[in-house]
Amino acid sequence: MALCIKVPKKEANKVKIELIRNKNLNNKYKVISDKENIYFPINKEFKTKYKTTNKKLDSMKQEITSLKTALKKILTKKEIEMVKTAYDLVGDIAILEIDEELRKKEKDIAKALLKIRKDVKTVLRKQGSHEGVFRTQKMKYLAGEKKKIALHKENNIKLKLNVETVYFSPRLSTERKRITELVKKSKKKEDILIMFSGCSPYCCVLARNAKDKINSIIGIEINPEGHKYALENIKLNKLTNVGLNNGDVKKIVPKLVKLNKKYDRILMPLPKLAEDFLGEALAVSKKDTIIHFYNFLHEKEFEKAEQMIKKACVKAKKKYKILKFVKCGQHSPGTYRICLDFKIV
Ligand SMILES: C[S@@+](CC[C@H](N)C(=O)[O-])C[C@H]1O[C@@H](n2cnc3c(N)ncnc32)[C@H](O)[C@@H]1O
Repeated sequence: MALCIKVPKKEANKVKIELIRNKNLNNKYKVISDKENIYFPINKEFKTKYKTTNKKLDSMKQEITSLKTALKKILTKKEIEMVKTAYDLVGDIAILEIDEELRKKEKDIAKALLKIRKDVKTVLRKQGSHEGVFRTQKMKYLAGEKKKIALHKENNIKLKLNVETVYFSPRLSTERKRITELVKKSKKKEDILIMFSGCSPYCCVLARNAKDKINSIIGIEINPEGHKYALENIKLNKLTNVGLNNGDVKKIVPKLVKLNKKYDRILMPLPKLAEDFLGEALAVSKKDTIIHFYNFLHEKEFEKAEQMIKKACVKAKKKYKILKFVKCGQHSPGTYRICLDFKIV
C-alpha cells in the first residue's frame, strides 16, 4: 500500500509540479488514475485540500527488476547491466535502444519485454538517431506483431502515426500540457500558429483541451507522411478549428504575411534548427504575441537561446520580453531540449 493524494485530472499537472518542487512525489511507485482522478504517491502527509488515501500501487522498480530477472536466463550479468531499461511506448509499440554489443541477443531481449508487459504488442529497436529534414528515425522490427503504425493516447487525444516515417516523441506530452495550461489562462481567444506540426500532437492537444481560448490553429508540416497522419488525427479527434498545411515554413509564412495574418501565439518545435525560422515567426507576430522557441543547448550555454532571439528581433526591429525558460527533456549528457517563451512588446 502506498500513501497517495487523490487529485481531479484537471488539476493534476499543477499538483504534480508542486509535489516535485517540494520533493514529496514518491518515485518508488507508479501513478494511477480512474475516470476523474489521478492518484499521486507521496512521501509524507502534508496540509492539502486533496483527500489523502492508501492505494495499492505497482512499484516502479518492479517492471525493471522483472525485465532484468527475465533476462537472467539469456544474458550474462555483465550484459544485463548494459541493457537500457528505459524505452519509449508509442501506443502499444515499445521502442528500445540496444547497444552494439548486445545486438546478437536483441530479439531475446524484445521477447522478454513482451512477456512482462502485456500492454506491449510490438517491439522495435531504434536504428541511429533522428535524421534529415523530416527528423525521422529508422526502426528495426524485433518481436510481436509486425507493424510500425501505432495508435497513441495522451492528454485526452488519440494520435495515429507510423513511428518510422513520422517524428513523434511521447516524452513531450508534459511540454504539450504546459503550453495547454498557458493557453487556458489566456485573457482572449487566440489565433495560434504551430510551425513544424508533424502528425499534429500540439494542434490536437491544444484544440481539445483549451478549446474555449482558441479562435483558430494553423499547422505547417513539410513531411507529406506527417501531414497525411495529421489530417487523419484531426478527424479522429473530431476537431474543427484546425487548418493544416503541407509545405515548408519558409514558403508558407510569406503567403500568410501577404494575407496580413498575425498570430497571438507561435510554437516552434524544431529544436535543431528553430533559430533559422525566427525571422518567419517574427514576420507574423504583433504586439503581445507569445513565441515558444525550442532549442538543444548544453547547460553551459543556455544563454545562447536569448542571444538568438535578440539577434533576430534586432534584425526584424521588434522588441521582446523573456517570459520563461523551461528544460523540457534531456537530449544527451549535459545537453537539454529547452524552451524559451518570449513576448513581443
Ligand atoms: C522535431 S519534429 C516535431 C514534430 C511535432 N511538432 C511533434 O512534436 O511531434 C519537427 C518537424 O518539423 C518538420 N519540418 C522540418 N523542417 C520544416 C520546414 N522547413 N517546414 C515545415 N516543417 C518542417 C519535420 O518534418 C518534423 O515533422
